[in-house]
Amino acid sequence: DMAEKGGFKHFMLKEIHEQPDVVKNTLMEFSEIEKVVGKFSKFKRICFVACGTSFHASLVGKYLFETLLGIPTDVLLSSEFLFSEGALDKDTLVILITQSGETADTLKALKIANKKSETLAIVNVLGSTATREADHVIYTRAGPEIGVAATKTYVCQLVSIYMLVSAMSGNDKLLAELQKVPDHMKQALENEDHIIEIAKKYKDANDFFFIGRGFSYPTALEGALKLKEITYIHGEGYAAGELKHGPLALIDDNVPVLAVVPPGESHDKTLSNIEEVKARGAKVIAVGSSKDEVLKSESHDIMGFDGDISEMLSPIPYVVPLQLLSYYISVERGIDPDKPKNLAKCVTVE
Ligand code: G6P
Repeated sequence: DMAEKGGFKHFMLKEIHEQPDVVKNTLMEFSEIEKVVGKFSKFKRICFVACGTSFHASLVGKYLFETLLGIPTDVLLSSEFLFSEGALDKDTLVILITQSGETADTLKALKIANKKSETLAIVNVLGSTATREADHVIYTRAGPEIGVAATKTYVCQLVSIYMLVSAMSGNDKLLAELQKVPDHMKQALENEDHIIEIAKKYKDANDFFFIGRGFSYPTALEGALKLKEITYIHGEGYAAGELKHGPLALIDDNVPVLAVVPPGESHDKTLSNIEEVKARGAKVIAVGSSKDEVLKSESHDIMGFDGDISEMLSPIPYVVPLQLLSYYISVERGIDPDKPKNLAKCVTVE
């Protein structure tokens, strides 16, 4: 059993540690992606469709398509997709993201989309149903993922989306910067002992908020989902700027707030949100740059990165400390993170 897990205590931990390598494998798919995008310049609208963690990867995709290509992009949950069917047309590219390629809601959406639009599936499992039914396919090269909570497949989905946008826009700079992402991820893994200490400190909380803006908003949502899935603690991901429209009423000294604050455009505004939650007694755990002295002084704990990475690419490495934090809180609480209760790796019912 231990051999299967490569010496790690759980598959999830093994899969978290595999991330720099599987990202490198996924990066080698770039030439395949270039072939796929041949005629994509004709599309006037993009519509992402996915569930769970794959939905969060899609949210990053929206900001990328809109920022770098100026193409209006929607992101829909697969189970809600049929209510948007009326807006589908031949100028829309529907991109379905699914690790398994077998999620029932996503396959149903694919069937609907195939009738009116062109479809592209971004999938991890070779030969799965989605790969057979979509017009175009991009494979993520994460290898088999056993842990129920998605980790390495998420970062590979992100890498595939960045490569897709880079191929469509001819943005070589983005592609060059992507090659450095595995090194940034390694740094987060080297800080594991520090993250274990933070997990021990916060393991007894009943509620957490995860906040971020722009490219860090999906990271906040994904961090909260990981927490719910494997620790059974209520974790809520929120757009930092939206806190004042409700959730602030819930903040007190029992609710730790995890803030995703890379250097860049969103930085100063998220810092002011940190001040707002601190004024209500919250303890703040930040994910950001180790060189960010202001962030360090404003937060109680920081999971920091030494290297410089653009805000646009930060979603890939910045999710890693969040995965580790949930993993270690899960272990501290005596839960098996590989097999959380009530959840399945692949959901084949609508
Ligand atoms: C389940 C899994 C999640 C996954 C979601 C979507 O809920 O537990 O980890 O993100 O399904 O799965 P898919 O295979 O379509 O990406």
